[in-house]
Amino acid sequence: MARPRILIVSYSRTGNTRDVAAAIAQLVDADREDLVPLGASRDGLRGYMRCSLESVTGTLPALASTPHDPSSYDLVVVGTPTWNLGVSTPVRSWLRQHAKELRDVAFYCTCGGTGGDRVLAELQRLAGRAPRTAMILRERDLRSPRYRTEVMRFANALRIPVAAAAEPTNGGGPRAAR
Ligand SMILES: Cc1cc2nc3c(=O)[nH]c(=O)nc-3n(C[C@H](O)[C@H](O)[C@H](O)COP(=O)(O)O)c2cc1C
Repeated sequence: MARPRILIVSYSRTGNTRDVAAAIAQLVDADREDLVPLGASRDGLRGYMRCSLESVTGTLPALASTPHDPSSYDLVVVGTPTWNLGVSTPVRSWLRQHAKELRDVAFYCTCGGTGGDRVLAELQRLAGRAPRTAMILRERDLRSPRYRTEVMRFANALRIPVAAAAEPTNGGGPRAAR
């Protein structure tokens, strides 16, 4: 029987969200799609201002090519940093393009301390479906023992029964609710 295929799609400006993607990928043997927005640098203070402006004006950046086909995965995990209490603009761009191709989703976000709940709600709106599971990690969590426990809980909740993963998928459309 086929092994469930999991793709982790994430954007990270300063590494927090990427580190979480790597930790999850190792636990569940997932593929990774690290989003790269095109255009001017997002580093440093000017980069921060650019990201902030984009997020409040609703500007969607173009992305470098994303080679993984999300419709060929049983589950797509979407990870984003929190920007102005919302989803980062590269992840908004990706979801705008691919939401209809997703069979099953899980979400996580990292944040300085506030806005995680709003980010998860926005991810659900953008993806057009409720997640299998979700996780909010604050920066202080990333440096505490809680981090490993939370990531393990999240990874365990991603596990798809093998039989469900092998079901026909109606041409890549949404899977029936379980
Ligand atoms: C433009 C911008 C806006 C941000 N807004 C928030 C916010 O509203 N709430 C919050 O807790 N953290 C906010 N942060 C902090 C990031 O969400 C946090 O540092 C995150 O872990 C960074 O992830 P990364 O290292 O993967 O880029 C913001 C960061 C940036 C660059």
